Amino acid sequence: MRKKLVIGNWKMNGGRATNARLLADVVSRVSGADGIDIAVCVPFPYLGNTSQHLFGCRVGLGAQDINEHESGAFTGEVSGSMLIDFDCHFVLVGHSERRDLFGETNERVAAKFEAALKSGLEPVLCVGETLAQRNAGQTNEVVFEQLQAVVDRVGVSRLQDGVIAYEPVWAIGTGETASPAQAQAVHLALRDYIRALDSQTANDVQILYGGSVKADNALSLFSEPDIDGGLIGGASLDADSFSAVCLSAKAAS
Ligand code: PGA
Repeated sequence: MRKKLVIGNWKMNGGRATNARLLADVVSRVSGADGIDIAVCVPFPYLGNTSQHLFGCRVGLGAQDINEHESGAFTGEVSGSMLIDFDCHFVLVGHSERRDLFGETNERVAAKFEAALKSGLEPVLCVGETLAQRNAGQTNEVVFEQLQAVVDRVGVSRLQDGVIAYEPVWAIGTGETASPAQAQAVHLALRDYIRALDSQTANDVQILYGGSVKADNALSLFSEPDIDGGLIGGASLDADSFSAVCLSAKAAS
């Protein structure tokens, strides 16, 4: 039985004072959500403070990006060992904003996934199609290609040491969510694709849904058999919304 997992992605939002309040509120409101895993991926400058806030709490810590190199002359970049230094457990790789706005290719994302594993982090591999690709009937082809680049790099069984997040680009930050049936169809297609390579990995790997998940749609999404939780952007910036999403994951598990 796969455990439900809810990860907040704060993106480039936050501030020291507001973070402290948000974290305190989230921690107190999710105290009843036992049996599921919860984490927040915060901007790099706030990792230290957030790690202190979350010390001993059931809410884990993650980062939003990683450089594929271990150290060296890469101005502005952050390595896996640095993230470990700040108690990160998760790191997002291949978020559509990184792919689209910062030109990250499937191969670079795969290198980041591998670097995260080598550092002892749990990478969250984001995959998803644009609206044009969906309309052209290319959804499965796109997400399979994104996944295959990682499989080529690390081998299929290492997918179990990470998490997959299906995030249709057209649903991110738009208020437009994939319907539970639309999301489930892609999650199942991803799991079947992995199953053809390794059935154990297919059964074990968590596949999260992301894209305008909110308190009022989380339960129906998380109740689908192949949706193992969510990657939450906008709603993770509000303690009421984020904790309601977490409690929906508990209700669905
Ligand atoms: P959203 O973002 O929940 O605001 O749509 C999700 C994400 O980008 O991970």
